[in-house]
Amino acid sequence: MQISELELDIEKSDFSFDPAFRADVLNGLSQTQKAIPARWFYDLEGSRLFEAITRLAEYYPTRVERGLLDRHAGQVADRLGLAPTIVEFGSGSSIKTRILLDAMPGATYVPVEICGEFLAEACAGLSADFPHVEILPVEANFMNPVSLPSPRGSGPMLGFFPGSTIGNLQPRAAVDLLRSMRATLGEGSSLLIGIDRLKDRQRLLRAYDDADGITARFNLNLLQRLNRELDGTVPIGAFQHRARWNDDWSRVEMHLEATRPVEFEIAGETFALDHGETIHTENCHKYTPAQMRTLLQAGGWCEECHWVDGDGDFSLILASSVPDLAGP
Ligand code: AVI
Repeated sequence: MQISELELDIEKSDFSFDPAFRADVLNGLSQTQKAIPARWFYDLEGSRLFEAITRLAEYYPTRVERGLLDRHAGQVADRLGLAPTIVEFGSGSSIKTRILLDAMPGATYVPVEICGEFLAEACAGLSADFPHVEILPVEANFMNPVSLPSPRGSGPMLGFFPGSTIGNLQPRAAVDLLRSMRATLGEGSSLLIGIDRLKDRQRLLRAYDDADGITARFNLNLLQRLNRELDGTVPIGAFQHRARWNDDWSRVEMHLEATRPVEFEIAGETFALDHGETIHTENCHKYTPAQMRTLLQAGGWCEECHWVDGDGDFSLILASSVPDLAGP
């Protein structure tokens, strides 16, 4: 190899890949059960496909949660008081936030979102429709503690975590995240969180394997990202989307299943899958109301109001931070 080729090679492997993406993928594909963390779904295309999922007939959580917000945002506003700062973790298109902003004139809005392009798009739309709302966007991975921008409102702090995104974490990680949100938001803060409920498994599976194949495209887009961003040679046509129910963990799992033996390279490393072997890409845990309460308590939050739709499909919970030195 000539020196210039060597230099080029070093440059490519060291600098042109997102190091966190590369590390997660190489590590995940080296496990016995291959896996890639679900947070890598959300490039611009993945974020757009997710928005399309939220409009599907089979995907009830968004629709039902929006109804709950329409019905109860006024009560949330009354309980909080004037001029709250709403910090949304993983704000996406901020569509549901509009319901809160309508109910809370004078609020400051801090959207925290990992996809910068998506964040900019959402903020532009919001400022046009809510010109009097101060919007302080933060491009960050909300899984890590976030330092909030200043200036911000002097009113109460409200964390907003809709969509049952908490369900995408294993319970232990969910507790860690709830604690980190509590640390970010501070003593005396509140959290408005949406959590999907345990229900009939066929309905759950249909929500993650829709007839139009949008969820399949969302899942397979991850392989396209590997090819595009990590110099991958994954034969995408040799994979299919799978949604499975795991009763031990009370969750729907998404996998990418090889339909024939495959071998490919990613960032210069070679991987192989047998026919039928899968890459595990997402977990979607489903909770009973009692489990939700326990989860929140473990994360430092106490349930104040628990709203549910008429079919018992989805919960919207307003919780308050538990004081640091509560009880014996
Ligand atoms: C973002 N999250 C709450 C969605 C869910 O339902 O777990 C992600 C999703 N994956 C496939 N469909 C929706």
